[in-house]
Amino acid sequence: MAEVGDFYQALPKAELHLHLEGSLTPATLRELEPSLSAEEIESNYRTSGDFSSFLRAYVWALGFLRTPDDYALVLRRLLERLEAENVQYAEITISAGVILRRGQDFEAIFSVLCKECASSPVQVRWILDAVRQFGAAEAMAVAELAAAYRDRGVVAFGIGGDELAGPVEWFGEVFRYARREGLHLTIHAGETAGPRSVWGALELGAERIGHGVTAAEDPELLTALRERNVPLEVCLTSNVATGAVRDLSSHPLPRFLEAGVPVVLNTDDPGLFGVTLTHEYELAASRFGLRESDLQRLAENGFRYAFDFKPAQAEPDARRS
Ligand code: ADE
Ligand code: ZN
Repeated sequence: MAEVGDFYQALPKAELHLHLEGSLTPATLRELEPSLSAEEIESNYRTSGDFSSFLRAYVWALGFLRTPDDYALVLRRLLERLEAENVQYAEITISAGVILRRGQDFEAIFSVLCKECASSPVQVRWILDAVRQFGAAEAMAVAELAAAYRDRGVVAFGIGGDELAGPVEWFGEVFRYARREGLHLTIHAGETAGPRSVWGALELGAERIGHGVTAAEDPELLTALRERNVPLEVCLTSNVATGAVRDLSSHPLPRFLEAGVPVVLNTDDPGLFGVTLTHEYELAASRFGLRESDLQRLAENGFRYAFDFKPAQAEPDARRS
């Protein structure tokens, strides 16, 4: 008999909120640094239900991404897993703000990443992410980088990091520049800060909102998201792991769906949180009583709200070649 999980595994899916660095699994960490013991990984690469423990673990793992080949290995393992669970399209976020701050060679890293993509059936596009707490000048450097790589698969500029340590008001000029350059915009907001932060992200021109959990506190905001057709990139397990919600049963996903807000399901940092996209679909189904047809619609949203999804080309007509 087919397992419930088989249905979600086989469902064609798209990932729109997925950090390359956060896709690093304990197994890949040991490939990068064989001297790491299981205990060291267990004690450093974990969250304890609050945002500061998440940031600590994320930054700890970044320390093992030293060379372009390290980044390539992480992507190779990620693409293998995405292919195995029928994720056909992925917009992968790179913490470009971290790469620039560490003085790493972005061109060298990005060119090996593109080589990895060439041998995978997963259609990949890139989002370059700035880090809120690094401030506006460093965010502008990331936006300029994203603009320079637009013809190489970079489709959007985004911002993540500590929402409480870098309010949206700092970044008006940066987002206006990114828009002028024709980049799509997605903003982590409403994860640790309240609904005002999501309103601010809308004002900056966000076409999608990363998380948006606290939008549930403001009915007018839910109406605005619905009317402006701005989807929330919901990441269930992440939201519990970082303390955005107390527990899964208090997650506002049902409220979003009830209010007609567009929703896409994602993993955020699947290696750190120990999840797959299939798992997040199963979780939504089992914990919120959603039917397979509801999940099918959410999966379709992944493609609908993608910034650059191209359906597979039909075979060329043999008579014309
Ligand atoms: N970077 C990676 N994951 C993130 C998250 N959940 N919030 C903010 N920045 C992030
Ligand atoms: Zn994120």
